[in-house]
Amino acid sequence: MARILVTQRLIDGGLARLGSSDHEIVALEQPGPLPTAALARAASDVDGILCLLSDRIDQQILSLPRLSVVANVAVGIDNIDLAAARAHNVAVVNTPGVLDASTADLAILLMLAARRRSSEAEADLRAGRWTGWSLGDHLGDDLSGATVGLVGRGRIGQAVERRLRGFDATVLHHTRHDTGLEGWHGSLHELAAEVDVLSVHVPLTVETRALIDRSVLAVMRPSAVLVNTARGPVVEEAALIDALTSGTIAAAGLDVFEREPEVSTALLAAPGTVLLPHVGSATTATRLAMCDLASKGLLAILDGELPENVVS
Ligand code: DGY
Repeated sequence: MARILVTQRLIDGGLARLGSSDHEIVALEQPGPLPTAALARAASDVDGILCLLSDRIDQQILSLPRLSVVANVAVGIDNIDLAAARAHNVAVVNTPGVLDASTADLAILLMLAARRRSSEAEADLRAGRWTGWSLGDHLGDDLSGATVGLVGRGRIGQAVERRLRGFDATVLHHTRHDTGLEGWHGSLHELAAEVDVLSVHVPLTVETRALIDRSVLAVMRPSAVLVNTARGPVVEEAALIDALTSGTIAAAGLDVFEREPEVSTALLAAPGTVLLPHVGSATTATRLAMCDLASKGLLAILDGELPENVVS
């Protein structure tokens, strides 16, 4: 029998698979992440850890002698030091696939909201500033018929592309390697210059940190919108704030931020922003599926198997 640490409180039903295993489950009822030293103490005698993306799983934790697997209830794994995991022979599993639809839906929501300026219109209504229907108030731009550029074309990017077909959008994409598909742009700058919406769908890695930098924002159309449902640090946030404030681009729909959960006051004050608190996968069904897939991968590793969702 192995010992498994669950680092934070899950949602109802989230512990179902682990709870019905033969292993001993130590479920911390923490509403948020523990500081690293406290997490290392709690994990000192466990074989597996089920954690959330807000937990930092670093060298101190990965070098614990008994630990053999970390399961992240997220597809993004930038909170885990993969080099340290490899060095200490700790397997890492994540949750690919099960959150594609929810995240793609949210990307579309942000594209629509940013193009149609719905946050601003709703704020006016709630503040009692709406005095009646007017031909010229709250004018935005259609998503229908727009040209959308996807930065990254993995599972979530492709799910976004499928949805955009229903909007008669022209969908282009940028990936490092030629996909051989129509719409591929080898140059991110050329893609950015051509589109009405630039939507980010890459993981956070050394290569993608600040990929959407000042130079990319500078070539976008003044009417264009940036959407980010991937990871905050992929976008150079200070440059984005400048671009919005100076009118270099029209709007941004963001679900992720450079220093979560902190959102800079300059970004909060910037015009044309639709801001959500990292809720891309936040539907009950998807979050339960994520808990289940991470648990399944963790149990498989403990059983000496190699699950499909092992990343390292
Ligand atoms: C992930 O899984 O990486 C998302 O950001 C949260 O669901």
